[in-house]
Amino acid sequence: MDKLVIEGGIKLKGTAKVSGSKNSALPILAATLLTDEACIIRNVPNLRDTLTMLKILRTLGKSVEFDKGVVTIIQSRESGFTADYKLVSTMRASFCVLGPLLGKLKKAKVSLPGGCIIGVRPVDLHLKGFKALGADISVESGYVIATARKLKGAHMYLGGIYGSSVLATDNVVMAAVLAPGKTVIESAACEPEVADLTNFLIKMGARIKGVGTPILEIEGVEKLHGVEYSIIPDRIETGTFLVAGLITGGDIVIKDGYYQHLGAVIDKLQEAGAYIERFDNSLRIKSKSKLHPVNVTTLPYPGFPTDMQAQMMSLMCITKGISVITEKIYPDRFMHVAELNRMGAYIQREGPHAIVEGVKSLSGAPVMASDLRASACLVLAGLVAKGVTSVSRIYHLERGYEGLESKLQKLGAKIWREKEKI
Ligand code: EPZ
Repeated sequence: MDKLVIEGGIKLKGTAKVSGSKNSALPILAATLLTDEACIIRNVPNLRDTLTMLKILRTLGKSVEFDKGVVTIIQSRESGFTADYKLVSTMRASFCVLGPLLGKLKKAKVSLPGGCIIGVRPVDLHLKGFKALGADISVESGYVIATARKLKGAHMYLGGIYGSSVLATDNVVMAAVLAPGKTVIESAACEPEVADLTNFLIKMGARIKGVGTPILEIEGVEKLHGVEYSIIPDRIETGTFLVAGLITGGDIVIKDGYYQHLGAVIDKLQEAGAYIERFDNSLRIKSKSKLHPVNVTTLPYPGFPTDMQAQMMSLMCITKGISVITEKIYPDRFMHVAELNRMGAYIQREGPHAIVEGVKSLSGAPVMASDLRASACLVLAGLVAKGVTSVSRIYHLERGYEGLESKLQKLGAKIWREKEKI
C-alpha cells in the first residue's frame, strides 16, 4: 500500500485541470446496459471506482475499451443480469446497475451493497421505486433479486428522512425509461450528476422532462440507441482545489471548474474570506485577507454538499474563531475529526455537529485515511501544516481523485508517494 507524504507551508500557484465527474461517470456507464448499441463516453476519469464499474459491465456482457479518458462500450455477448458480491462489495455505487438491468431485461440480481465508514447507506428508496414500477423484489443471501413480467409507469415520492437520494433517483429513472406509460418521480435528487445522467438518457432517446428539478416526468419508450457523450467536470474535485488554494494562501486557477455547480461552496468560501473570480469554464481563487470562521450545514443540492464537508473542516481548523459544521446527510461522517486533532486541530464532536476552534497552525503527523473525502481533507491539512504529514491508505483517495498528487505538484506543492513500510 502507498502513502502520500506532504511538506506543508507552500502557497499554491498556477493552474489545475479538473477531471470528469466520478459521480456522473458511474451511473452513465451503468446506463449503457439499456442498449445493445455502441456507446462512446468521453471525459471519464481513470479511478479505482470507474475501473470497477467497467469490470462489472464486462461481467454483464459488454466489451469495454478505456483509453485516454474515452470509454467505448459494445455488446459482446448476451447480457447477463447478475452483479456479483465481490465486485459490488468494493464499490457500493455498483448497485446502480440494477435499474438498467431491470428496465431492459426485466430481471436483475445484484448484491446488496454493504454500509461504509460514512454511514449505513440503506437502499430502501431504490426498492420503493422499483416496486412502484411493478417489480417483484426479494432479498436472498445478500442479493436483491428484482423481476417483472412487465414494468409500468407510476407516480412515486422518492424522498427519505434525509431528503432526496442521488443514486436512488438514478436507479429508478433508468428502470423507468423503457417502462410503458408515464412515470412521475417527486423529490428526485437535483445534483448536477443526476442531470448529467438524465441528459445522457435523453440523448439515447429517452423522454424525460424536469431535468435538474425535484420533479421528473418520464414517458416510457420502446428502445434506446447508442450515443456519444461527454461527462461533466467533477465539482467536488473543483471544490477540493478551491480549498487547496485558500488554505495555503495561494492563488490558483481551476480549469473546467464550473461555478454553476458550486453555488453553496463558493458562497461559503467567500464568507470565509476568499476572493473568487468566475469565468465560463474556470474559477480563480486567492485569499483576500485573514480567514473568517463560518458555519456549514450539509444538505441535498443545491445546499452545501456533504462531499465537501471534510475539506471545509480542514480550512476551519486554521481559521481563528469558532465554526460549527453540521452533517445532515450522513450524521456519522466525521472519521476525519480524530485525524485532524492528531495534527493539532481542536474539534469537538456533538452528534451531527463538529465544533471547530481554529488554531494558529497544524503540525505535520502520520495520519490515516478512512474514506474518500476524509483522505482529501487530510491532504489539505498537510499542505498547510508545519512540518511533514504522511497520509496512509491512500487507495481511498484513488477511488475519486485522478492524479491528485501530480496536479498538486504542478501547483508547487511538496507532495510525493512512498511505499508503506509494513
Ligand atoms: C451519492 O451517494 C454519492 N455517490 C455520494 O458521494 C454522496 O455523498 C451522496 O450521493 C450524497 O450527495 C455517488 O453518486 C456514487 P444518497 P448515494 O442516496 O446516492 C439516505 C463520494 O464521496 N438514503 O443521495 O448513495 C442515505 O443514507 C460519495 O463521492 C436512504 O435513506 O447517497 C443518506 O443519508 C460518498 N435510503 C441520504 O439518503 C436510500 O434508499 C442521501 O444519500 C438511499 C439513501
